[in-house]
Amino acid sequence: MLPYEIIEKKQQGDRHSPEEIRFMVKEFTAGNIPDYQISAWLMAIYFQGFSIEETAVLVEAMIESGERIDLSDISGYKIDKHSTGGVGDKVTLILAPLVAAAGVKIPMISGRGLGHTGGTLDKLESIPGFTTDYSIDDFRRQVDEFGVCIMGQSATMVPADKKMYALRDVTATVRSIPLICGSIMSKKIAEGIDGLVLDVKTGRGAFIAEEEKSRELANQLADIGKEFGLDVRVVITDMNQPLGNQIGNRNEVVESVECLKGNGPADLMEVTMELSAEMLVLAGKAEDVPAAKTVLNELIETGEALEKFYDLVEIQGGDPKIIDSLLSLEPSKFSVEVTAPAEGIVQSLDSYQLGTTSVKLGAGRMQMGDVIDPKAGISLERKIGDRVNAGDVLAVCYTDKESVVEEAKQSILDVFEIDDADASPPTMIHEVIGDET
Ligand code: URA
Repeated sequence: MLPYEIIEKKQQGDRHSPEEIRFMVKEFTAGNIPDYQISAWLMAIYFQGFSIEETAVLVEAMIESGERIDLSDISGYKIDKHSTGGVGDKVTLILAPLVAAAGVKIPMISGRGLGHTGGTLDKLESIPGFTTDYSIDDFRRQVDEFGVCIMGQSATMVPADKKMYALRDVTATVRSIPLICGSIMSKKIAEGIDGLVLDVKTGRGAFIAEEEKSRELANQLADIGKEFGLDVRVVITDMNQPLGNQIGNRNEVVESVECLKGNGPADLMEVTMELSAEMLVLAGKAEDVPAAKTVLNELIETGEALEKFYDLVEIQGGDPKIIDSLLSLEPSKFSVEVTAPAEGIVQSLDSYQLGTTSVKLGAGRMQMGDVIDPKAGISLERKIGDRVNAGDVLAVCYTDKESVVEEAKQSILDVFEIDDADASPPTMIHEVIGDET
């Protein structure tokens, strides 16, 4: 088989045979096909698409590129949650201890920030000492004994995705439904879980912004999950404005702790509760979503979910006593207020631009290898539907980099569209897919 011919076939819109897809993934992972040919193939897939059968073969070939975790000797239902990526999305930090406190086993392999979106590992590592560096054996042991473990992607699992994602990131081929599906589902199926709840973000700050395309992605994720024997629920949630009020790693940990104490912002709690409830239902711990929400609310009210978070921090190397004083650790050199130029109602907030601004402030990576500043970020004081008077603080940005302060201030100001028209906060839960009951 020749890579040239396979690229040309997809470029012309023809379907691949399973052997062709397996050949491209295997030989690329082994270093036998150069980056420029795989980039051309990815671009051909981006424009011509894949049938669901081709995507399933892609998923299988990507899984076969590395090691699979076997969790079959761990008792109980094992379930994970994965988000397609958003701004201010700290749901995992709240959901993991909350659902584990309900007695569900959660083997969770999380990622770092990608582009304008934040990553769970970066957020957790803003807790001094917290480690996500686990061997697969230690990961299995912690899931078995403690009920939840959050670790980073191991180098031996789905190496094809690691190499392919790096190319997609620099060749503008991230926003392809079959490629996103292949990337996410190969990693999740290789984890050895029984069930998966997916949070497909839609709107300005999502990788796939359009509602129709988000639904297409959600359906494909559910179909692929079913094909591989996974129980899957996909919840399409809003990303037209950041989730919660904090963007930036340390601030997001603090906001997550507030949620576990019962003081979380409404939009963040709504999404967290919906996803957590779907997990409880799949795991057989509740009859339906409303019953699951009752259980979850109790776990917050009694402090059990918060206790599980402190225990998780401790077991993963952090000092739980430090959590409540995270914000009084060393402050950012610059903390700058952005104020409203006129009165009115906030109509929209571009979460993509807020995400890229927070990266520039130091909360994310501009290039691979950049070091993250855990203190950097943006605190939103107003969101869509809020009334403001001239001079009110809209947001505060935190950074150690003096050179970016003025530009950040201006871009945050540009993001706030304020006028006299009525506006309401967006509907958070757009759709739930995969519930056949
Ligand atoms: N998250 C992933 O893991 N892969 C993608 O392709 C997009 C988001």
